[in-house]
Amino acid sequence: MKITVIGLGYVGLTTALCLTRCGHQVIGADISSEKIMALNAGELPIWEPQLDELLDQARDQEAIRFTTDIAAAVSEGEILFICVGTPAGENGRPDLSQLRSLIKPIAWHAKEGAVVVIKSTVPIGTTDTVEKGLYLLSGGKSWDIVHNPEFLRQGKAVTDFLHPDRIVVGTRSSVAASRMRELYRAIDAPFITCDPRSAEIIKYAANGFLAMKISYANMMAQLSESWGADIEAVIKGVGSDRRITPSHLQPGVGFGGSCFPKDTEALLAMGRDADCPMPLVEALQEINRLQPQRVLDKLEQELGSLQGKRIGLLGLTFKPDSDDLREAPSLAISRLARQRGAVLQAYDPLVRDYPVAEVKLVTDPHVLLETCDGIILVTEWEEFRKLSWRRLHSRLHPLVLVDGRNLFSLEEMQRIAEETGLVYLSVGRPPVRRKERKSLMYSV
Ligand code: UDX
Repeated sequence: MKITVIGLGYVGLTTALCLTRCGHQVIGADISSEKIMALNAGELPIWEPQLDELLDQARDQEAIRFTTDIAAAVSEGEILFICVGTPAGENGRPDLSQLRSLIKPIAWHAKEGAVVVIKSTVPIGTTDTVEKGLYLLSGGKSWDIVHNPEFLRQGKAVTDFLHPDRIVVGTRSSVAASRMRELYRAIDAPFITCDPRSAEIIKYAANGFLAMKISYANMMAQLSESWGADIEAVIKGVGSDRRITPSHLQPGVGFGGSCFPKDTEALLAMGRDADCPMPLVEALQEINRLQPQRVLDKLEQELGSLQGKRIGLLGLTFKPDSDDLREAPSLAISRLARQRGAVLQAYDPLVRDYPVAEVKLVTDPHVLLETCDGIILVTEWEEFRKLSWRRLHSRLHPLVLVDGRNLFSLEEMQRIAEETGLVYLSVGRPPVRRKERKSLMYSV
């Protein structure tokens, strides 16, 4: 099939390239000429595993073209995917201006019988409003319109697209539903059809639920810590229940990213607009807001005060295998640490430009091991597992490491604490420090 994808961010680009893998011809359109120039030169404007191979293959097979000419792109597609951003707007409501700007070009230039698919996350009722707008602007023509939400995790977007748990298609048109089945024929997954409003809620409800699981795990981590238990054992015991599953039960510094914070805000706004209280969503947000503070409190308690202390951050992005800093917990942590007088350095495998100017970026994480009074591991990049703890031997004072992601096992850290004097604090687990504390001096 001939597909047009408008908006080439994480979702749009993944959709466009994965659809070429499903055997379709794709035209990718975006208003950013910089982005289109990069893509036409075979370069990806974002970092996402596997997308580079898909781009190379699609270009070799001439299965994809990129353009800034939205009208021309719209006029060619049998299926038009809208993948533009819907960032947080006023009062928690998503800003739909990019979506609105597409109604005219689609109404004026789309092919007869084209199916319009909204993939962007949109508030309840938006698909209906777009349908009405298209009807009015096209002089009373009826449209096959679909809401087809995405459930892509950054860092795993290609796998999630090609092997999803389900495909949700919200439409009132049986023609559109069968075109969508045909489009996704190569993908083996349950196909759920419903009305557009239910599809819109499915996306928010799923993200809200996952965010709630994370906050629940963070709440239980605090309980475990207070009573001297180990949250990792608790999660194992709870997550083994097939009704619960271990997914999104990992406690840490709180969730970030482009979806959970924005979508839970939108849930609250939609609840307010319908006079429908959302106390669970309010509670999960509050727990999440406090997580960065808790991590810092832990460090502060151990170091006495953060005033003038050299604090290092390991990892800055909101999750590993991503270069995305949107709503990253590192931002809240570094701002709070600055307010408490800390002098900040950070290492991240991908970040070269960080919005908190006072954070000095280093290119080797071991610099932090050697020079900082305290370190917070904010993002669980795999490469941190291979840190050379021998570098701690060159220090005069023991390092305090707060592992905000429980990346390391308590046993491993106990061994390192014995060798180096390291004080290891994590989330919802007992603290680890050298057992024999006759002297804090250790051999060099
Ligand atoms: C999420 C949803 O998973 C995806 O289905 C949706 O379409 C977009 O939003 P994403 O934001 O890429 O995807 O990442 P996810 O892996 O869900 O993690 C989101 C945040 O929660 C990250 O900051 C992550 O560190 C945190 N998290 C996740 C936890 O703190 N604990 C967990 O157990 C899982």
